[in-house]
Amino acid sequence: MSVRPTPPIVVVGAGVAGLSAALALAPRPVLLVCERPPGEGGATPLAAGGLAAALAAGDSVADHAEDTLLAGHGNDREAVRVLVAGAADAVAWLEAQGVRFDRAADRRYAFGREGGHRRARILHAGGDATGAAIARSLAAAARATPSIRVLDGLRVDGVRLGTDGRVCGVLALDAAGVRHALDGAAVLLACGGIAGLFADRTGPAGLQGLGLSVAQAVGARLRDLPFVQFHPTALALEARASDGRRSLITEALRGAGAVLRDRRGQRLMAAHPLGDLAPRDQVARAVAAADGPWLDTSPCAPDWPAAFPSTVAAIARHGLAIGDPLPVCAAQHFHMGGVASDLDGATSVPGLFAVGECAANGAHGANRLASNSLLEGVVYGRRAAAALAAATSRPRPSATRRFAPGAEPEALATLRLRLSAALGPVRRRSELLRLLPTLAADTRQHTIARALVIATLAQRGNLGAHQWHAADAPVAVPISLWPGSPAAHHGQRPGSGRSVRP
Ligand code: SIN
Repeated sequence: MSVRPTPPIVVVGAGVAGLSAALALAPRPVLLVCERPPGEGGATPLAAGGLAAALAAGDSVADHAEDTLLAGHGNDREAVRVLVAGAADAVAWLEAQGVRFDRAADRRYAFGREGGHRRARILHAGGDATGAAIARSLAAAARATPSIRVLDGLRVDGVRLGTDGRVCGVLALDAAGVRHALDGAAVLLACGGIAGLFADRTGPAGLQGLGLSVAQAVGARLRDLPFVQFHPTALALEARASDGRRSLITEALRGAGAVLRDRRGQRLMAAHPLGDLAPRDQVARAVAAADGPWLDTSPCAPDWPAAFPSTVAAIARHGLAIGDPLPVCAAQHFHMGGVASDLDGATSVPGLFAVGECAANGAHGANRLASNSLLEGVVYGRRAAAALAAATSRPRPSATRRFAPGAEPEALATLRLRLSAALGPVRRRSELLRLLPTLAADTRQHTIARALVIATLAQRGNLGAHQWHAADAPVAVPISLWPGSPAAHHGQRPGSGRSVRP
């Protein structure tokens, strides 16, 4: 009797979430579909923060959960519990894959602090090059895993459905323009966020909401689209990295003592109880509203340059060093919204799973806590892998759904500028209403932009990373009601807004 081979799982994306899932699926066959070789593309290698884990003496999983909830406003509590409770195991698993987290002279972990965390609990690897260290180790582990077939150089442009309506594969174009059909038992999206739809961003140009396009093609539910996170300390100097993104000045510098000031030298965050380590949404709005904001790194301690090699290299390109005043601005950094998924990554469409930044399971609420995203990739990537073990049948492909064509470079550049102007840290209804008719083009990127703008217009109040301009806001949050106070929770909770199916 012949035994049928187990059908593969198609994993789209080779950052921390996709690689964690692919490795955890072994020895189950995986087709790992990605544009750049594993560990080289996407946002993971750029992650300058670290991985939050309540492992320090005196810290607790409950405190980590509480900080995640205070920063996030209306997170899904169970998603937060799973995230933070999984941190210790995630760290041990990463170490087993070869990641070496930084340690102090006494060989214990060296914990850093970032915005919204009440205490130092951030693990780094290679200082502010943690994402790169994790990407390298996981990519090497994946290359050494025979069950993972890496298919790089491919751009996904469609989805395959089986006779039973389950998602069972993707269509992808190679560099020569040849289209490949890649089928398996199920598809796991781990393909990152929407940085490449914004002109002012810290993430790569190539991340243009692929997960949202897949979901739109098959009618999967999306959630929390208005919640776009802006990082308060992107380097505000004109020359940018080769793909147009701004260099990130890691929050860990503020954790070590750097402070934000305006042109007159006044501290920007002096009024906040957490000062410069307030949650990111609040600091980003303060920076966006400030006249000539800059990061004062003059409190520089002797160990800073070694602890922040990525930041040192980025500012050195502009002739600056740590200790100098660093001009900063707010720039798009992360999307809390995405393809609605449960705690195992399952979406509303059978056979389609999503984890990492492209997914939204409610763990981040309306404003992700710093250094919870690498953690999310590991914890939820591995959970999705466990759930996918049950997907053993190979649906017979019977239908394909191609995406709308990609926008031409000029149209994409215009779209990026418009989204950056209208969908920034503070939004105006009038601007969004003016923007909407300009997004009518039938391209993949314009389709996503329309969904973002429509969902934002439907957001009633201020919440987390979404804030209406004072002239537009039905309910303004007075500066004295710092989020964390129940009185400040005026907005629609994440997940409670309508699903968006443009
Ligand atoms: C940072 O290093 O400031 C970014 C960390 C993060 O996005 O969590």
